[in-house]
Amino acid sequence: MSGELSPIDKAKFAAAKRAAEYVEDGMKVGLGTGSTAAWLVKCLGEMVRDQGLRIKGVPTSTRTADLAREVGIEVISLDEARWLDLTIDGADEFDANLNLIKGGGGAHLQEKVVATASDQMVVITDASKQVETLGAFPLPVEVIPFGWQTTKTLVEETLIGMDVLGRTTSLRMNGDVPFITDEGNHILDLHLNRIGNARQLSLVLNQIPGIVENGLFIDICDAVVIGHGDGKVEVRDINEGTVEESKVDFLENDNLFSDIAD
Ligand code: 5RP
Repeated sequence: MSGELSPIDKAKFAAAKRAAEYVEDGMKVGLGTGSTAAWLVKCLGEMVRDQGLRIKGVPTSTRTADLAREVGIEVISLDEARWLDLTIDGADEFDANLNLIKGGGGAHLQEKVVATASDQMVVITDASKQVETLGAFPLPVEVIPFGWQTTKTLVEETLIGMDVLGRTTSLRMNGDVPFITDEGNHILDLHLNRIGNARQLSLVLNQIPGIVENGLFIDICDAVVIGHGDGKVEVRDINEGTVEESKVDFLENDNLFSDIAD
């Protein structure tokens, strides 16, 4: 079954499988959004079913909430949890300091709230998401629908003074209509190519009225788990300053693949 997965899916699965080892009995866990996070949710569902793992999951989107319930994870809201032991989520880009761009799936607002309310955030990813400087991936910015075109103009004017290479912005669409987030907002994608000072940009963007949250995660991520198509996994922990390597055996997980593949 695992043979039918693309190398990139195998890499995402390997990262998710390794990251699931961070989860301990009794934990309250933030569950990210996206294709890599979906593997994690499926792995945790299997641990709940087969190993009796008891966890409470706080999903970062309705998509993830639906999947978590489907695989048997108890779902609670962030308000019920208040604070989490751990959040595991994907990313669109990460740099050497484990600063991130997130929001490719349009869920970065809830993802940032949940990750910030966690003792630890672990990012799961394939190696293609690693960059020297953030910004090749368009930066998602969640804006309220009211006056979004004015907000877009203000963002473009603000970018003139910022250390970025590109300055075009686009409203994210879902077919012919604007994309709507779980919070009922729109997303502007900022095509910046290179972000010279991500910390400054994040602070400045969030000062613009109409912007709810941008997709830069600065000093939030603690560790990144990088999966590869051959099952190799690298774990970089920014606090410990450690790098560990291990390997996920796809054959050992063949049951899980046939059980959970879409
Ligand atoms: C969703 C996100 C995702 O984590 C990010 O887009 C990565 O997704 P994928 O794992 O599918 O590559 O930020 O808002």
